[in-house]
Amino acid sequence: KVETESDQGQLHNHTGIKRAAQLLNRGEVVAFPTETVYGLGGNALSDEAISQIFEAKGRPSDNPLIVHIARQDQVLEYVKEIPKNAQHLMDVFWPGPLTIVFKHSGKLSPKVTAGLSTVAIRIPDHPIALALIMESDLPLAAPSANTSGRPSPTEASHVFEDLNGRIPMILDGGKTGVGVESTVIDCTDPNGKVTILRPGGITKEALEEVVGEVFVDPALVNRDEIPISPGMKYTHYAPAAPLIMINGGIPFFKKKVEEASRSGKRVGILVTEEAKGLISPVAQEVVCGTREDLTTVANQLYHSLRKFDEGNVDIIFSEIFPETDLGAAIMNRLRKAAGGEILSEITAGK
Ligand code: TXA
Ligand code: MG
Repeated sequence: KVETESDQGQLHNHTGIKRAAQLLNRGEVVAFPTETVYGLGGNALSDEAISQIFEAKGRPSDNPLIVHIARQDQVLEYVKEIPKNAQHLMDVFWPGPLTIVFKHSGKLSPKVTAGLSTVAIRIPDHPIALALIMESDLPLAAPSANTSGRPSPTEASHVFEDLNGRIPMILDGGKTGVGVESTVIDCTDPNGKVTILRPGGITKEALEEVVGEVFVDPALVNRDEIPISPGMKYTHYAPAAPLIMINGGIPFFKKKVEEASRSGKRVGILVTEEAKGLISPVAQEVVCGTREDLTTVANQLYHSLRKFDEGNVDIIFSEIFPETDLGAAIMNRLRKAAGGEILSEITAGK
């Protein structure tokens, strides 16, 4: 049975964090909130703790984990060097949803880095996460606290759904803020080139304001390329039914839904406030934020995808979003849920 401690962001009641820190120091794993999604934390120095994380999630062992720390000066212990661009970005965006890949110093468990010569590190911007790292006095390796292949958890109840019976404790901090995972960037290039391996809470545009031109791993846009970040090759974030993105206006969206309904499929639709009630009276509609402010879409995305798993639909159609700013992270997650399938009004021969 999993123990759930509710802190709801109020750290005056410290007992949950103390208990979680004890478990971590005993080599056990604990789920905790961050500003992006819930993480499943374990001691990044312990092979045994890391094995438990992979086991609880059913995660492939060739997919390395992010190490969470609380202070910038801890980085030096775990990396060979801090490149200049990385330092600039740390100064601006930490604590926050930016994960930086460095060459590692060999001090962490090799299971954290899946045998690679590099390690991914971030300082989360969440009072419970920071308090837990400090109280445990450990670097915490933490992937998202979902079962591998399910949407990442943005509430303690999502973690409970996936991992009840598999982990000893969830620290409940209410709903997370950003709603999609951190941006992962590679800063190991000898010429100082910064490359986005996974789009996320910190946008390309925001990074470029600090370090100039930022590159994107070609595998993020081209399905034939092999991604640099091992995690990006898996179909992540998948709801139970296949998800297909619709690139077209409301009449085209309606037509696709009607076709699927007529063929006997139970259809789910993922739409924004702007299209609410306009597509279909029979489809199961989940409204996910407003196009006016994409932070609302990111915030509700995983919760919305989980809703379709409750509703027993056979197919899900979703809107698409511009590939700029936070839209890049949202589209990346939808593409992974969709397995990359987009139906376009133009190529459909209209
Ligand atoms: O927001 C987040 O980043 C959340 C919270 C809990 O911090 N964590 C998270 O972890 O999303 P996870 O394990 O679900 O995703 C980690 C990503 C994977 O795509 C993995 O392949 C990549 O980071 N990664 C980790 N270490 C890496 C490395 N050394 N080189 C390249 N990619 C790496
Ligand atoms: Mg994950």
